[in-house]
Amino acid sequence: MSNEKTINIGLMGLGVVGSGVLRIIREKARVLAMETDRDLRVKKILVRDREKARGVDVEPALLTCDPGDILDDSSIHIVIELIGGVEPAYTYAKRAILAGKHLVTGNKDVMANHGPELLRLANEQNVDVYFEASVGGGIPLIGSFRSDLVANEIHEIYAIINGTTNYILTRMSREGAALADVLAEAQRLGFAEADPTKDVEGIDAAYKLAILTSLAFRTQVDPAAIYHEGIMQLEPADFRYAQDLGYVIKLLALARQDNGRYEAAVHPALVPQSAPLASVDGVYNAVYVVGDLVGNVMFYGRGAGSEPTASAIVADVIDVAHNIICGVTNRIPYSIDASKSLKPMDAVETRFYFRLWAADRPGVLAKIATVCGTHSISIASVIQKEADPVNQTAELVFTTHDAYERAMQAAVQDIAALDVVTRVAGFLRIVDVGESV
Ligand code: HSE
Repeated sequence: MSNEKTINIGLMGLGVVGSGVLRIIREKARVLAMETDRDLRVKKILVRDREKARGVDVEPALLTCDPGDILDDSSIHIVIELIGGVEPAYTYAKRAILAGKHLVTGNKDVMANHGPELLRLANEQNVDVYFEASVGGGIPLIGSFRSDLVANEIHEIYAIINGTTNYILTRMSREGAALADVLAEAQRLGFAEADPTKDVEGIDAAYKLAILTSLAFRTQVDPAAIYHEGIMQLEPADFRYAQDLGYVIKLLALARQDNGRYEAAVHPALVPQSAPLASVDGVYNAVYVVGDLVGNVMFYGRGAGSEPTASAIVADVIDVAHNIICGVTNRIPYSIDASKSLKPMDAVETRFYFRLWAADRPGVLAKIATVCGTHSISIASVIQKEADPVNQTAELVFTTHDAYERAMQAAVQDIAALDVVTRVAGFLRIVDVGESV
């Protein structure tokens, strides 16, 4: 039991989230003091530029550009790391733990790449690492996986965990707009970064999926090993056909485990219109989980932004404060079953959708069907709607029954090489997740 009346915090990073955290700790000081029976005091703030204008009033004396002012100050109990990116954040996080400080971080890059190591180190040093804000902003996910769902064997996770792409896909779906136009407007409105690569290529979602999957499946998932495919190739026609077929297009982060092997991938997918995930629109995030005891559970909310993310950070700080007061650490162990292995993407089985332009004459469909048959792919439906009478071509849309990724990729290559096929224009996986009844 610690009797010190003040818990000192070192805040690293004073950007959008850091400013929100500072403001909330100050505005709610009385409530937080009642909650923890201690004063939570931000003692030092690490910034890159002390002169920069901030979205929050801050006494100049609190600011420092020297990380040592926090990491070497033995009176600081908790470091909140909100710098973002792997370095120097990872080095600072490690130094904080080795100096005996508790760490609260919202950094998905650090936790996806070095989380298990930091948790192990924290265990050795008898300090805590909390990282609720690293995935899904204010949505309670990490705590739920670490404690509320811990009695379950989690079989499946289907998640929409990138707000930028969900905003873009929602607008393309509603307005029939082209991706480049929606992306440009999203950037103008501040919903997409100036360099949106990590979001639109599915990298941000893969990092978040690595964190969730490591916790849920109790293993160590390497984010670099997660297959990821982005949204840039999607065309308005794909959204029209998805709707005709009873689906919506979402950038899905999914993971499933079975008999010691697990799948983990991020890619755009057709999701049934009747599934709860299909109605997660705009910048909202959701994570749909299937556990052996709890059944299906969906977490929904704002996955980014100053206040939702600060909500998770401040909650973690309060939890750590409770631990400090009670003189305990690592109440929730982090266990890893290293024998579980990631299934290669080409061994994953799912349904597929593909769209192509081909000659509009007898026998064309038969040639395409023959290629599918050769690769043991069973066609579930074919649509022909659009035709170009001048070039005598038609747009054909196929869906398949379950097939191996390896077989489907090979089939699409062979189909694209047929002399009757002008262009394979769309290729998506169909994920028949959790339809509500
Ligand atoms: N760029 C992320 C998103 C938010 O669009 O969801 C930060 O993780």
